[in-house]
Amino acid sequence: MHILVTAGPTREALDPVRFLSNRSSGKMGFAIAAAAVGRGHTVTLVSGPVALTPPDGVSYVPVESAQDMFVAVKAQVPDCDVLIMAAAVADWRPTQVSEQKLKKSSMDGMLSLERTPDILASVQALKGSRVYVGFAAETQSVEAEARRKLNDKGLDLIVANDVSRDDAGFGVDTNVATLIARNGEAESLPLMSKADLAEAILDRIEALRRS
Ligand code: CTP
Repeated sequence: MHILVTAGPTREALDPVRFLSNRSSGKMGFAIAAAAVGRGHTVTLVSGPVALTPPDGVSYVPVESAQDMFVAVKAQVPDCDVLIMAAAVADWRPTQVSEQKLKKSSMDGMLSLERTPDILASVQALKGSRVYVGFAAETQSVEAEARRKLNDKGLDLIVANDVSRDDAGFGVDTNVATLIARNGEAESLPLMSKADLAEAILDRIEALRRS
């Protein structure tokens, strides 16, 4: 299969030296890309800025902003069988990007934000028989929020994780996830390494492709 994976945060520029972003390290997406290459799949990895080395054998597309990631994903989706959106895409960006470094006195109470494109929602029309997988990183009502996103974004599978735990989510090497399928079935996985969770996610995707 050709698997398209996104990873990491995005950066939304405010001026030449400042940006809005989040705590994503990229570890989960990179673990999925490495595991998929290990299984012999063709892998394209689109990632925001991270301090990780791309796994050998992946086609690597580095991006910065949500808009860049949106353009890269839209260009790659037609060639892939599976899309796994592990990236923590920034939800907002500054309404205006200043060409010059902003002076602190000009910014008091002034930060105006707009929504970034919802990448998964924007590639709905391209889905066809492709398997789409999303992530829901939540701090409360984890499973309910994940089910809402599964439906709203037209996904086949969503990986829900509680990022308020110290041993799950952003930055750490372990994760605790519940895999929820389109038919509503949920599988709660124990604490495991992101490498092992990547294998569990790929097992589910391969089963979905066979069904
Ligand atoms: N996602 C996306 N485009 C965005 C934001 C998120 O494609 N602009 C994807 C993420 O990669 C993830 C899924 O959508 O796979 C859920 O992301 P999340 O940030 O949890 O959801 P939001 O739609 O931003 O919902 P909310 O802000 O209500 O939590």
